[in-house]
Amino acid sequence: MSDQAVKTKVTTLPVPYPMQSRQDLIVASELETDLETLRHEHGPVVPALMPFGKGRAWIAIGYDEVQQVMSDERFVVWKHRGNDYPRLRFNEGHKPPFRMAFDKMDGPEQIARRRVLARHLSARRVMGMRDESRTLIEGFLDDFIAGGQGADLITQFVEHVPLAVISKLLGVPEDETDIFLEAALDHMNGRITTEEQANAHIMKVNEYFDHLVARKRAEPGEDLISALLGDMDGGIWDDEELGGVGFVLLTAGHDSTASIIGGILYWLAHDPERFRYLKENRDVLPRAIEEFLRVVPAGTGTRVRIATEDVEIGGVVVKKDDGIHPVVHPANFDERVYSDPHTLDFGRDEPAHLRFGFGSHACPGNQLARMEIREVLDAVLNRFASFEAVDQPANWRERMLMRGPKTLKVTWTLEKE
Ligand code: HEM
Repeated sequence: MSDQAVKTKVTTLPVPYPMQSRQDLIVASELETDLETLRHEHGPVVPALMPFGKGRAWIAIGYDEVQQVMSDERFVVWKHRGNDYPRLRFNEGHKPPFRMAFDKMDGPEQIARRRVLARHLSARRVMGMRDESRTLIEGFLDDFIAGGQGADLITQFVEHVPLAVISKLLGVPEDETDIFLEAALDHMNGRITTEEQANAHIMKVNEYFDHLVARKRAEPGEDLISALLGDMDGGIWDDEELGGVGFVLLTAGHDSTASIIGGILYWLAHDPERFRYLKENRDVLPRAIEEFLRVVPAGTGTRVRIATEDVEIGGVVVKKDDGIHPVVHPANFDERVYSDPHTLDFGRDEPAHLRFGFGSHACPGNQLARMEIREVLDAVLNRFASFEAVDQPANWRERMLMRGPKTLKVTWTLEKE
């Protein structure tokens, strides 16, 4: 298909594209190919059927259109939600016990809170966590290596890293993560299908963070919760809301980072030539990480927005009160923006990928995530002279919001000490 045809083609889809009926049944790899084909054949915004709520919505699957959905103030994440909010996850709550926090606000309220948070998640603050994170990561890697050849890199290394780093950031003691981890993971990964389950999980995590905030108020530490307690910016939030902030940072910051790190290591374990190249050319790593972030298939990554008025986008009109879901992955492969989009090219000099979103709700944890990815790659490239996947069928999480390899068994030779 020529560039011109890709640019102009907008035809009506006869039936809405099904975003699958149950999130745990999704074959995500098929979804990704499908969404690109859909863009080629029907244009950058097409009707879709979401599994929960009123179902009928739109999906944006072109680069410009995803950016527009994320930055046009006429699309909001929260204010106009109700029971019929079309959504991917059953439990994208809109009423208590779901706590209000900045991620569920729009406009000035959200921007003011994000400004405070940005002070504490800045590149400088994140660099301050680098040495401690490196020590943690090297320790996890030692344990993994001690497991012997053929050990599973995902469950025995990757999954430990973001949990330990986000817990350090929030001031959660290591031996307390078990209290809420399962509830927090279930909350994000979409396995929940009843209101009772959803509420029980949310209350469990809320309860933990209420205790944590009370403890940090009594005995502040060097962590983010203590820092935010000392920086309420004229009473911008209270302790209850701060508990909600802890909740959202934990749930948004753990699984997402583990999925991406898993995806990048999966690639390298199947591509010994690139592994060697990166070992010998560390200065390329920052660009390589950005290119991996563009191509690693990590799920849709975003929330549905609601239109507050009729909005024209990508050749269609999204009516007031209708939902539109910006889907990052196909946008990162849009031929209108990226030449030869399916080639992994560390020398690429093209617009930034949308893996961390765009606009006012763009990921506030992106510096932290980038630091973790860099430290993991450095540790792996330092310790292993060679590093390869053992022959095994691909075993990826088939989820829609976030996905990554479930297991990855590898063999290696170590660098000489
Ligand atoms: C590689 C790992 C990560 C990826 C790919 C990722 C991706 C994203 C994306 C695409 C969004 C925008 C969602 C939307 O517009 O609906 C987002 C938002 C968010 N992310 Fe991340 N993220 C990652 C790591 C993190 C980390 C480490 C943290 C915590 C420190 C975090 C916290 C959040 C929060 C709180 C939001 C909501 C922001 C808001 O609504 O204002 N993320 N993330």
